[in-house]
Amino acid sequence: MSIAKLAILGGGQMGAGIAQVAASNGIDVTLIKATPGSSDPVKATIEKSLTRLVEKEKMSQAGAMEVMGRIAFTDDLGAVATADLFIESIIEDIEVKKAKFAEVDRIMKPQGILASNTSTLAITEMQDATERSERFIGLHFFNPPTAMKLVEVVPTRTTDPSVTSVAIGFCERLGKTPVLVADSTGFIVNRLLTPYMVDAMRCLEAGLSDIHGIDTAMQLGANHPMGPLALADYIGLDIVHAMATNLYESFGLEHMKPTRTLDHLVAEGILGRKSKLGFYDYSESPPVPNPALHG
Ligand SMILES: NC(=O)c1ccc[n+]([C@@H]2O[C@H](COP(=O)([O-])OP(=O)(O)OC[C@H]3O[C@@H](n4cnc5c(N)ncnc54)[C@H](O)[C@@H]3O)[C@@H](O)[C@H]2O)c1
Repeated sequence: MSIAKLAILGGGQMGAGIAQVAASNGIDVTLIKATPGSSDPVKATIEKSLTRLVEKEKMSQAGAMEVMGRIAFTDDLGAVATADLFIESIIEDIEVKKAKFAEVDRIMKPQGILASNTSTLAITEMQDATERSERFIGLHFFNPPTAMKLVEVVPTRTTDPSVTSVAIGFCERLGKTPVLVADSTGFIVNRLLTPYMVDAMRCLEAGLSDIHGIDTAMQLGANHPMGPLALADYIGLDIVHAMATNLYESFGLEHMKPTRTLDHLVAEGILGRKSKLGFYDYSESPPVPNPALHG
């Protein structure tokens, strides 16, 4: 079995990116909006991303139109009925995800495969909300999905090996490198990366340096392309908060816990790049450290 029809739930930064990559590799995609409102903003996001590729001469205008033509936009979950693969990419909340999976399981054809793009949550817990635990898998893409090469592929104890093979083939068709990971909170990358970002926030709170100093130190001292605070803004501070909370609840290690700065920013709706303010202020070009955080 190979994947010809993909349905994605959630048109946020990840859902939109996965839709673009899949459509660019010849797969028919239905992008299902998960919250009320028009699909126009997500459509515009993908169009803008394709326009950039055309401007950089990485894609022809006709190619970009072909890619857009392969993506259908809807808010009707019924669109999952005929999909070969369903990828959930909505808010990082286990109860919301479980409820959606239970619904999709009832609608989708029996051979269809269910996958979650969760950053940290247990795949097994989500699969238990469905009747198809042998056709359930984690497919953890990275941000932005159009550029990042890795997909963590997370079979559970009950995932049929043939489903894992199909999932690996799907990732490879998208030009990604799949790495198999056991189902454990945060998988590999976020188990290591989230405590690092949260510790960088603790360094800021402790006055070790300012925002620019902490990010510059890790860029130049560890050869990271982006400092930890800029990275947290890029991922989305609500997502980082959810990841840190899930890791702390799973492992009970203090250094995994969200810091007070992170609690405060998320409570205020200050979510990083997507809300134009986080550790940096993105209304400026180039972005400047947020002065309210002693930047
Ligand atoms: N941001 C990252 O770097 C990253 C990387 C890999 C995986 N993920 C995971 O991908 C998923 C989506 O993250 P994102 O970065 O695209 O987030 P986002 O904030 O850009 O988008 C969130 C999506 O969730 C939907 N949503 C919000 N509230 C909802 C609700 N109550 N019920 C149903 N849907 C709701 C929104 O409509 C939107 O489609 C999360 O599980 C996240 O952990 C994120």
